[in-house]
Amino acid sequence: MKIAILKERRPHETRVAATPETVKKLKGLGVEEVLVETGAGTAAAYTDHAFGEAGAMIVPDAAAAMGAADIVFRIQRPMVAADGIDEVALLRQGQVLMAPLGALTNRELVDMLAAKGVTAFALELIPRITRAQSMDILSSQANLAGYKAVLTAANNYGRILPQMMTPGGTLAPSRTFIMGVGVAGLQAIATARRLGSIVTATDVRPATKEQVQSLGAKFVAVEDEEFKAAETAGGYAKEMSAEYRAKQAALVAEHIRTQDIVVTTALIPGRKAPVLVTEEMVASMKPGSVIVDMAVEQGGNCPLSEFGKIVEHHGVRIVGPANLPGELATDSSSLFSRNLLNFITPMVDKESKALKIDTADEVVKGTLVIQNGQVVHPSLVQS
Ligand code: NAI
Repeated sequence: MKIAILKERRPHETRVAATPETVKKLKGLGVEEVLVETGAGTAAAYTDHAFGEAGAMIVPDAAAAMGAADIVFRIQRPMVAADGIDEVALLRQGQVLMAPLGALTNRELVDMLAAKGVTAFALELIPRITRAQSMDILSSQANLAGYKAVLTAANNYGRILPQMMTPGGTLAPSRTFIMGVGVAGLQAIATARRLGSIVTATDVRPATKEQVQSLGAKFVAVEDEEFKAAETAGGYAKEMSAEYRAKQAALVAEHIRTQDIVVTTALIPGRKAPVLVTEEMVASMKPGSVIVDMAVEQGGNCPLSEFGKIVEHHGVRIVGPANLPGELATDSSSLFSRNLLNFITPMVDKESKALKIDTADEVVKGTLVIQNGQVVHPSLVQS
């Protein structure tokens, strides 16, 4: 069994799907060869030399890595001709792709991969069950992104976050409001608290109230009957009714006027991100305040945010980060590649050292999108 690790070519991507540490562990599992495209880890501070020392074979280009590999690990879904580089073309029949594919929203890509005759696992679909926590790429990356979002806000804020008493006088502490308390939001709360800010947070899922409070922040939300039922069995948010959204917006509008930093993280799987910070709310904030919109890629929680840009409206700076985990490439690659290692480990047959795909396994069932060129994922077969 040979695994290819490619240089990621999408804009803003700095991460890599293996590190010297995981290369060593993959080889320990019985993987015959880990083929690393030269320079694949450079942007994440993992050199060819370090990969080589860990037992990887460094190859000159993507074609060389792909040509010899049985399995391909990726951080991003492969690019197609319309993206400027055709990475799908490099895949060949029978190869196994393990990558985040955005499979439920990129049907065209799924069909292209199927036409290639590959087997593909979509890592964003790893079920959120206890056994799979160590494989959960969404959590590992969101956690780091939540941390970096607060640092980004701090770097764009012309004041300090904690209270500071100086001989010249006292500087007041900042107020930070975190909207959406999933994995990213929880880490954002913890980070803002560590930096000395006064933190409040909101979410539509009732379970988050206690989590917010346990981190020393204050929970702000309309807690009516709809709120009490606003969580799916999978732990995700439901789309709220127009009536609830209006009540919540009124509460948020009142609260946001007094905030210095707002970090928005609210997402609903498979849908456009909900608008939580309207232009009027932005206009009500103090000049110099900062909004970091972590949902910008899914349409944004603030309609004024722009992907990959920092814009200013009504004196408020609005940051739309393109790839927050990518700004912490060394750690995010480290966690992502461990997630992948933990994902593949149970699939490697102890005797033959070959990949054995058990379609009865819950994690396999949840992530296997294409098997030998056939689209097999239940959410895609029905559509
Ligand atoms: P996400 O990235 O899908 O969404 C972020 C947050 O936005 C969520 O907390 C969601 O409730 C919130 N949100 C959605 N609409 C909103 C609105 N209108 N106003 C305010 N907030 C809104 O969520 P993430 O981070 O993926 O976590 C989802 C859940 O899954 C959490 O309960 C998390 O603890 C849980 N989880 C469970 C795992 C496991 O058991 N293995 C692993 C990771 C997460």
